Amino acid sequence: KTINITLIKGDGIGPEVSDSAMKVINATGLKINWDIVNAGKDTFDKTGCLVPDDVFKSIEKNKIVLKAPITTPVASGFRSINVMLRKKYNLFSNIRPILPIDSLNTNYKKLDIVIFRENTEGLYIGDEEKIDENTFIAKKLVTRCASEKIISRAFEFAKENNRKKVTVVHKANILKETDGLFLKIAKEISKEFPSVILEDRIIDNMCMQLVMNPIQFDVIVTMNLYGDILSDLCSGFIGGLGLAPGANIGDDIAIFEAVHGSAPDIAGKNIANPSALILSGAMMLDYLDKHKEANLIRKSLNNILKEKTCLTRDLGGNTSTTDFTNNLIYEIEKQ
Ligand code: NAI
Ligand code: MG
Repeated sequence: KTINITLIKGDGIGPEVSDSAMKVINATGLKINWDIVNAGKDTFDKTGCLVPDDVFKSIEKNKIVLKAPITTPVASGFRSINVMLRKKYNLFSNIRPILPIDSLNTNYKKLDIVIFRENTEGLYIGDEEKIDENTFIAKKLVTRCASEKIISRAFEFAKENNRKKVTVVHKANILKETDGLFLKIAKEISKEFPSVILEDRIIDNMCMQLVMNPIQFDVIVTMNLYGDILSDLCSGFIGGLGLAPGANIGDDIAIFEAVHGSAPDIAGKNIANPSALILSGAMMLDYLDKHKEANLIRKSLNNILKEKTCLTRDLGGNTSTTDFTNNLIYEIEKQ
């Protein structure tokens, strides 16, 4: 049966990595009807419209999206297209696994962290108020409803996957009402999951502990801004942003995308590492219950990364995005 998937091409390195991910997923033999759409800077330059209607229509029709990074131009009327999509479709959980690739030499072979980031509120509502030229206020929204959803997801995931511990990260010592509510809800929900330990960490201490000893962490659940920062930090343990996948999941729509952005510094040079988006694609296949194909992609990626001749520049090699992609497709088709 053919699966309909919306592919958002993105800009910066987006077109390069999304082309790679699409070809790699096709190589698994799944029959996919890709509906290719775009939004963001490139689209705006071409059409004068930042997010054309066909993007929304396609997402609403297919409900499954693979999305490359998007740059939101300043003064375009949008704060961030990415944040807008997460809010519009209530994609309340942003799930970011931090799992080292077996064949790569990282310092943290045993690391296996999954970050659950609240994805629809916090400081990312973007409600900034101007008092005068030199004074601005940003509002932070925290609701019981959104907090319960993300914290429950984290605990359910921990329970289903036999994980021992959920760490809730906050700054409730200063933000007693907002972060205080988030922490309080975590304590309430943890009572429904006796097999999972809850611990809490203040965000600053959490950063130190992650750098000193990341192996101690298992599932992390946190608020929007802290989750954004911690996921870039944690990607450093496994070799950087080129390897960190993610998913934005709501009740009926899911958008899969890498942790990284559009990387304008390396765009158009055919040197970006497409692995992060490819691994996001594997998460998408798992979500679609195509576990065999998802595992085939992960295994093949692991196999080719053993070869020094198959590393992109961010991993210390000089393989191009397209050569890397072709090697991976060859490896998949060989199996
Ligand atoms: P970035 O994540 O794009 O890049 C940070 C650094 O990591 C750069 O040196 C870049 O070259 C490198 N890098 C990132 N992905 C890589 C890959 N796949 N292979 C090799 N190297 C890679 O963050 P930056 O530069 O702060 O943001 C650039 C733009 O991306 C901004 O406009 C930002 O708003 C946007 N952005 C979009 C996101 C999305 O679409 N979900 C998420 C994060 C940022
Ligand atoms: Mg980020």
